[in-house]
Amino acid sequence: MERTFVMVKPDGVQRGLVGDVIRRFESKGFKLVGLKLVSVSRELAEQHYGVHRERPFFGSLVEFIISAPVVAMVWEGKGAIAAARKIIGATNPLEAEPGTIRGDFGVDIGRNLIHGSDGPDTAASEIALWFSESELANWEPATKAWLYE
Ligand code: RTP
Ligand code: MG
Repeated sequence: MERTFVMVKPDGVQRGLVGDVIRRFESKGFKLVGLKLVSVSRELAEQHYGVHRERPFFGSLVEFIISAPVVAMVWEGKGAIAAARKIIGATNPLEAEPGTIRGDFGVDIGRNLIHGSDGPDTAASEIALWFSESELANWEPATKAWLYE
């Protein structure tokens, strides 16, 4: 089983899409193990997007992430990291397929609604950056035998 970090960005929270995002991950069969609303500090935003520090959009990206609350989540399941990226869709919402979150709800790359970890190493470091161990629940969904062979 894999765990991935997913965050509804300020635009998704402001536009009332948190429930829709959660619905899509739940319906797919992933298990929610962490969930919280966060008013992000500049320090946390800069750490989270540290890999983009030298990119021209870094400043506006950090300003955007701290501009209103985000919803931070950890989802668990078979192939969860790659599957979450597919559910989210391409970075530019105009290029994201219909049926993906960005494809269905966005038009601007700077307002693309949601973040998902892009690989096992970033998933592990982002989960550790955003959540303490005690904020992650170990639980057994009653549906497990009906989702996995
Ligand atoms: P994310 O990290 O937010 O899940 O998005 P991603 O992997 O699909 O895309 P990434 O390349 O990691 O870019 C991070 C975020 O920076 C903003 N961005 N703006 N103006 C631009 O050219 C530009 N490029 C990227 C987007 O908000 C993107 O999600
Ligand atoms: Mg990324």
